Amino acid sequence: MTRSLITLDDASRDDIERYLALTDRFAEVMQRDIKKVPTLRGRVVINAFFEASTRTATSFELAGKRLSADVINVKGSGSSVEKGETLKDTILTLNAYQPDVIVIRHKASGACAAAARFTDAAVVNAGDGTHAHPTQSLLDLYTLRRRGVGLDGLNVAYVGDVMHSRVARSGAVAFRTMGANVRFIAPPTLLPPGLAEGLGGEVSHDIRDIADADVVYVLRMQHERMGAGGFVPSLREYSREYGVGHERLRPGQLVMHPGPMNRGVEISDALADDPEVLVSAQVESGMLVRMAVLYDLIAGPVERARTVPVEEVAA
Ligand code: NCD
Repeated sequence: MTRSLITLDDASRDDIERYLALTDRFAEVMQRDIKKVPTLRGRVVINAFFEASTRTATSFELAGKRLSADVINVKGSGSSVEKGETLKDTILTLNAYQPDVIVIRHKASGACAAAARFTDAAVVNAGDGTHAHPTQSLLDLYTLRRRGVGLDGLNVAYVGDVMHSRVARSGAVAFRTMGANVRFIAPPTLLPPGLAEGLGGEVSHDIRDIADADVVYVLRMQHERMGAGGFVPSLREYSREYGVGHERLRPGQLVMHPGPMNRGVEISDALADDPEVLVSAQVESGMLVRMAVLYDLIAGPVERARTVPVEEVAA
């Protein structure tokens, strides 16, 4: 059976360590003058993004290109999806080109697992509804690891719209697998009962509890998933109660955000512009992690069987 990366729920600490180690090796390759390696020459990677994306889509594209794969990008708008084609038919169509990997972003939770049934390619979940976003979690872990931050015993606080966040769902599981402690800080309306407990995190409705965190992970207010529902009385009130700015942080705390940021809502303008905030480092890690994931899914099993080091494959 083809391996896919749909969630990290079943990933062991060793699995995640393997991804991080592989990412490190690609980081080293990217230090070289020539940043393109022939590793995936002749392989086909299709990026099928049925929902908006800047960072994830561009980094998967660049990752595939730097590995010399043939990369095809399909968007929801402008494709036959607009004509009413079902996900099944779209995937069957793409499968006819015999891709090695199909990277999928979709607004429906479970869409990637469903799509995997209609293709022989490995499927990578680039975000499905409110369900999961495994490569975001890997890049978050890698960003911290690269700065020398130990994950074991690390205190991570996710702040804000936990309810609609696949980033928090995947991230909490991944951080916990690596031995970190996770807390969710949100208004009750954005943190449904049972969610945090199910993910093995603590709950707080008091923003002052970010004081205990080593990493303050600010989540975007996901307006597009809220419909007409009044999840917060007003954005101004939300921002006053839960917005993160310098005045709420203590020195040494690390701040992460998956992007795109709503400046002045969940994060202050000044904090968003602070070079100490890890947002750009997260973007940079994104491409490296996605190189590792594409490589692992396509060449990983062969490499492991032959024990060829990535440096040689990528020479
Ligand atoms: C996230 C997503 O799409 O889930 N963004 C991203 O991948 N960088 C988070 C978000 O949209 O808030």
